[in-house]
Amino acid sequence: MSPAEAQSRIAELRATVARHDELYYRRARPEITDFDYDRLKEELAGLERLFPEAARAAGGETPTQRVGDDRTEGFVRVKHRQAMTTLDNTYDEAELREFHARLVKALGTEELVYTVEPKIDGVAVSLTYEQGRLVRAVTRGDGEEGDDVTANVRTIRGLPVALKGAPVPAVIEIRGEIYLREEEFRRINQLQEEAGEAPYANPRNLAAGTLKALDAAFVAGRRLEIVCYGLGHCDPEVVDAQTAFRRQLEAWGLPVVAAFWSVRGIDAVWAAIGELDRIRRDFPYGTDGAVVKLDAFAQQRHPKIGYRGMTADGRAEAARKLSPRWACAFKFAPDRAETRVRDITIQVGRTGALTPVAELEPVFLAGTTVKRATLHNADEIARKDVRVGDAVLVEKAGEIIPAVVAVLLEKRPADSAPYAFPRRCPVCHTAAVRGEGEVVWRCPNPHCPEKVRRRIEHFASKGGVDIEGLGEEMVALLLQHGLIRTIPDLYRLTVADLLPLKKSGEVWAANLIAGIEASRTADLWRVVFGLGIPQVGAAAAKDLARTFRSLDALAAATTADLLRIGGFGEKTAAAVVAWFAEPENRTLVSALQAAGVTPTAPAAASSALAGKTFVLTGTLPTLSREEATAKIEAAGGKVSGSVSKKTHYVVAGEEAGSKLEKARTLGVPILDEAGLLALLAGSS
Ligand code: IVH
Repeated sequence: MSPAEAQSRIAELRATVARHDELYYRRARPEITDFDYDRLKEELAGLERLFPEAARAAGGETPTQRVGDDRTEGFVRVKHRQAMTTLDNTYDEAELREFHARLVKALGTEELVYTVEPKIDGVAVSLTYEQGRLVRAVTRGDGEEGDDVTANVRTIRGLPVALKGAPVPAVIEIRGEIYLREEEFRRINQLQEEAGEAPYANPRNLAAGTLKALDAAFVAGRRLEIVCYGLGHCDPEVVDAQTAFRRQLEAWGLPVVAAFWSVRGIDAVWAAIGELDRIRRDFPYGTDGAVVKLDAFAQQRHPKIGYRGMTADGRAEAARKLSPRWACAFKFAPDRAETRVRDITIQVGRTGALTPVAELEPVFLAGTTVKRATLHNADEIARKDVRVGDAVLVEKAGEIIPAVVAVLLEKRPADSAPYAFPRRCPVCHTAAVRGEGEVVWRCPNPHCPEKVRRRIEHFASKGGVDIEGLGEEMVALLLQHGLIRTIPDLYRLTVADLLPLKKSGEVWAANLIAGIEASRTADLWRVVFGLGIPQVGAAAAKDLARTFRSLDALAAATTADLLRIGGFGEKTAAAVVAWFAEPENRTLVSALQAAGVTPTAPAAASSALAGKTFVLTGTLPTLSREEATAKIEAAGGKVSGSVSKKTHYVVAGEEAGSKLEKARTLGVPILDEAGLLALLAGSS
């Protein structure tokens, strides 16, 4: 490559990487995989090393000399006491060994002790505890200064607001990673799709998007979690090594990484990485690699080690510290395989959403055979230009959901044509519609046989009224034989109706009828969930059941009634009202009631707290935040993360801050711990 060619490639890569940084860090909507991103960045860094002149001449800032910036509008910016750096990545064992060789040379000993732990694929935050109390949570930002996301981070249930036990430093910055579990990711994405919005590609993006939401009550409705692994500023110092730090985090009651090795020498590091790779799929978070750190802080701080972005004597080489030389991330290559798209089919969902699916030539990938992968929606297909006949790479993103990550254009058949998204429902042939601003095309026909089938299936499913034996196949069979047409028809089935369906059917038929019978008195929330109201997942259905206690009361609820439920925003409230306003849906509810479905309302909560929303702030004298929350919830109340007009009580302890002020401004009643306990005892 000539210097001129290098210069133009460098300029091109800088622009490309900067664009992907923006998509990943600020918008949480990356268009390429981490693996492909890392490859682009590696190519850029390599060229900058080989052609320093060309790199200077290419002009502009280079993304290799800064950390991806996540700062967005709407947040207060806060400076970190100690810079939040990133880590150097490698996918290569030899490079990992070079990392060790450099440290051996600098420290003059082979006997280096390292820690090995999972690299969590989430969003980094820095938590500041002062005198043991959580006062602030800040995103990495540009490494020096990040966004204040304290209100949102306070909604995380497993994160203590006060450190337990001693020693408690005056000020400490603790670094961790915010993530969402796979099941929570699926739950939210389903709601997202039902609402006609683009689903998130993976739990990391969804966690990033959620952390940057501007309404803490909304964030509280999504179960973010956190795991802590790193130390920033600490005064006074309380530990002298990574191993001791992890023990201390645990003693303080903070969630720590699921697996951790402390080993001597690079061979042992390599063995630990192998072990991690074998167990990481069982972790609650996505683990995209291993982080290897020098254990002893004295060694980390040795003048010959320090940070990339600084010279050996500590002078800044780049604008800021970039990544520590005492740590290295070894990334696991993604589970990927090449296969071919046999066909693109359209799946019709319960709400009529038309989801394109790539039907693949079966390929073995990370332990399972993959035959299908979702293509999400028409825009996604167009963006990737996936065509029938294409050779594609499929990846198991987040280990579970197979996705088409790239089309191998060089292998594209000459006669291929761009995929034309159907304008009609493939099942009932009704013209598809697409709402204003929505990405999803839908079949609008309420009687579309596929929608009907899916609605019945959803009603009977485990998350719904849970009728054993009434799965996908059985629902299809009942429909085929004309035994049912709607959900209420289930309740008119008899053993005699079912007998002809199977050869030796007696026991089976009796069991299915018994299951259907039992579901007549299913918990109210299951029935509400089973109705398939857009935006209403299990958590919202439970809130609705607790608040309204009957289908009739729920059907009569107004937008204002619904907005009084903590965590219910305009969108959910509007979706519920709109659903019950549809004559078809009203008919469904009355038909269920006429068929003898009498759902069971939740056990009556202590009358004082039922449907009341609480906000906790500051430290209570005896109850921890978790204990107070549990007591309030057990009495039928709800705990929310932020104060609004809808808040019924603010429970304030010592060092309560802005929430207390806001409660005063809004005139929300304020309780102390004794007041809360009195209320709980029903004597208030
Ligand atoms: S230590 C000095 N440990 O990965 C750098 N980071 O790609 C301190 N990360 O910025 C980082 N899991 O957000 C560390 N076990 C772990 C981690 C971890 C995930 C993140 C962190 C970091 C990024 C680097």
